[in-house]
Amino acid sequence: MISDIQEILVDEKAIEKRVSELGSQISGDYQGKNPILVCVLKGSSVFFADLIRKMPIPIEIEFLKASSYGSRAQSSGKIELRGDLSMEVKGRHILLVEDIVDTGNTLKYLLERFENLGAEEVKVCSLLDKPHRREQRVIADYIGFKIPNEFVVGYGLDFAQKYRNLPYIGILKKEIYE
Ligand code: PRP
Ligand code: MN
Ligand code: MG
Repeated sequence: MISDIQEILVDEKAIEKRVSELGSQISGDYQGKNPILVCVLKGSSVFFADLIRKMPIPIEIEFLKASSYGSRAQSSGKIELRGDLSMEVKGRHILLVEDIVDTGNTLKYLLERFENLGAEEVKVCSLLDKPHRREQRVIADYIGFKIPNEFVVGYGLDFAQKYRNLPYIGILKKEIYE
């Protein structure tokens, strides 16, 4: 554990187990639907790569970049979206894959965006759910872990673009981000 981390919240083993379970559950639900799994960069990158390898069914993958935090610990509420939005969404089953739902601002924005593009269905899988600071009434359909109101990093999640490469999810020491 590196010194900037106060405590490991979810260790590698627990992540691996839960990602496998999610992969099985989602595969069962999406059998025969040929879903498009959308990786919401950058945070979702690590989870996404692990999750899709636990899904032994036909799927397609796409990548979008959505960010609202910049280098701060608080959501700006303003979503900046980049990436390839030219995918044919009409009539398709879309599964948005996120690392965390916090205020819900990012998710609300993406859900509206995909619904407007004429998707048959838009669902969400998020590794983490942090309900304490929710500003939008959104909830992920598939959730890995519900977590307390702490600033977490690792396994894709950053603070000021750092710590994404940690193999576990850890609580960042307050002195680092305050
Ligand atoms: C983080 C995280 C989610 C979003 C969740 O992304 O990866 O996408 O914020 O927060 P919200 O529910 O309050 O909107 P961020 O904007 O930090 O960009 P990143 O994925 O590139 O780190
Ligand atoms: Mn993100
Ligand atoms: Mg971030």
